Amino acid sequence: MPTRTFTNEELAALESKSAGELLAWAYQTFGDRVAFASSFGLEDVVVIDLIARYAPKLRIFTLDTGRLHEETYDVMERVRQKYGLAIETTFPDQAKIEQLERAKGYYSMRVSIENRKECCNIRKVEPLKRVLSGVDAWITGLRREQAVTRTDTPKAEIDLGFGGIVKLNPIIDWSLDQTWAHVRANDVPYNQLHERGFPSIGCSPCTRAVAEGEDIRAGRWWWENPEQKECGLHVKKV
Ligand code: ADX
Ligand code: SF4
Repeated sequence: MPTRTFTNEELAALESKSAGELLAWAYQTFGDRVAFASSFGLEDVVVIDLIARYAPKLRIFTLDTGRLHEETYDVMERVRQKYGLAIETTFPDQAKIEQLERAKGYYSMRVSIENRKECCNIRKVEPLKRVLSGVDAWITGLRREQAVTRTDTPKAEIDLGFGGIVKLNPIIDWSLDQTWAHVRANDVPYNQLHERGFPSIGCSPCTRAVAEGEDIRAGRWWWENPEQKECGLHVKKV
């Protein structure tokens, strides 16, 4: 149970804060009981750069699914060194992964949506639940423009999917151009796959490059419908 509750009005008032102001507010309000979830995609390295400026002690964690691209580890290391950060790496439950791979092999996620969700559940959602059970708020790098499933997402909300804690999305209203401009202007390290046609980067077996003009998440779980393309980290429960 969260240690402090917020009214809808209090959360709505946060909408006018800039990304940096919201991050500073988050650390002042929650201290060690708030953490940023980073996959080290374009948006997340921008949030890390803002954290370094506005809330340098704010916790940062990553869900290492065991199936990430080599380029992702590369940017994780560059970010770690540039900002002098201690990134909290979280792994999936070892026994569950062993069982899954022994029973269904290494590409079960491509066989059916149920299998894909089973893999996301073991590798991402359960580890996220473990981290979130120890905080009162979490922060993401979501942007509304990213997907049809994200267009209504507010800057601050109660996350009923994860025990009613606060969820903060400081760059939810940023455009892609604005995000790239921040990266370029501040020399923020970014994943080299972005230069090779990967606007959105997840696990290696479930991400591919997109063609010019294609939707930015077209390369994520490319065999599924856009309405289904959420792995369970960002669930809407009302
Ligand atoms: S996903 O749900 O489709 O995988 P996406 O890649 O768009 O999400 O990332 C949206 C936000 O979810 C990121 O900005 C980050 O806050 C969080 N996130 C996604 N993947 C991870 C991960 N592996 N570790 C930590 N946070 C993640
Ligand atoms: Fe498994 Fe793919 Fe989900 Fe990663 S994105 S956890 S590999 S199904």
